[in-house]
Amino acid sequence: MRPPLFALSALDKRFGARVLFEQAALQFEAGHGYVVTGANGSGKTTLLRMIAGLEGAQQGTLAFRDAQATVYEYPEAWRREIVYVHQQPYLFHSTIEKNLEYGLARRGIDADQRRIRVREALEWAGLSDRRELPPHKLSGGEAQRVALARAKLLDPALLLLDEPTANLDGEARQQVLELVTALCLADHTVVIASHDPEIMRLAILDRMVLAGGRIRME
Ligand SMILES: Nc1ncnc2c1ncn2[C@@H]1O[C@H](COP(=O)(O)OP(=O)(O)OP(=O)(O)O)[C@@H](O)[C@H]1O
Ligand SMILES: [Mg+2]
Repeated sequence: MRPPLFALSALDKRFGARVLFEQAALQFEAGHGYVVTGANGSGKTTLLRMIAGLEGAQQGTLAFRDAQATVYEYPEAWRREIVYVHQQPYLFHSTIEKNLEYGLARRGIDADQRRIRVREALEWAGLSDRRELPPHKLSGGEAQRVALARAKLLDPALLLLDEPTANLDGEARQQVLELVTALCLADHTVVIASHDPEIMRLAILDRMVLAGGRIRME
């Protein structure tokens, strides 16, 4: 059997007296999609942030591909491959196109390639006609689609989406659901924190439930 793409074990996480995880563990297989559910405050955001190395813990062992680490020493090299998309995506004050290009420039991709890949990603997200706009002119749904396009563009090995459809309804929510589904159906390994019934119903996703300090597969 192939080893998992990512694994977390013996995780202890507390905020003061509040215990979020106690000896919790999980594994993600390459190419699979997961939905992480649990009551408000059960630790979904905190879990994704720990997997992305944005948040520490009292204890925990991590494995990614064939490398091992602890929650105290998150390997810098993993950050390029494990990408977290915030519930309220941060976009800097420039055009949408520049927002998408930035991550590629940081990875040393040349200008011609950047332009091609940014155009493709904008088209994928249905945002080609928005590319010259500054972020404050976008609706909430468009901003979330920019964030998804920006993450896809980086081609992460593990993509972590925090409540991608929260605060959206109607057509905006459907558009984001379509993109999320497309990401899951493609070769990516995607983990979505959500209690959106439509995301939870997606048959392509395995369910993980946070409760009582543990992470349970369903
Ligand atoms: N930096 C922090 N300091 C102290 N407590 C925190 C911190 N971050 C989160 N918490 C607490 O940890 C618990 C889990 O928070 P988290 O945001 O991970 O939950 P969640 O499952 O994502 O909730 P929601 O469904 O509302 O998004 C909450 O009780 C929260 O108040
Ligand atoms: Mg949350």
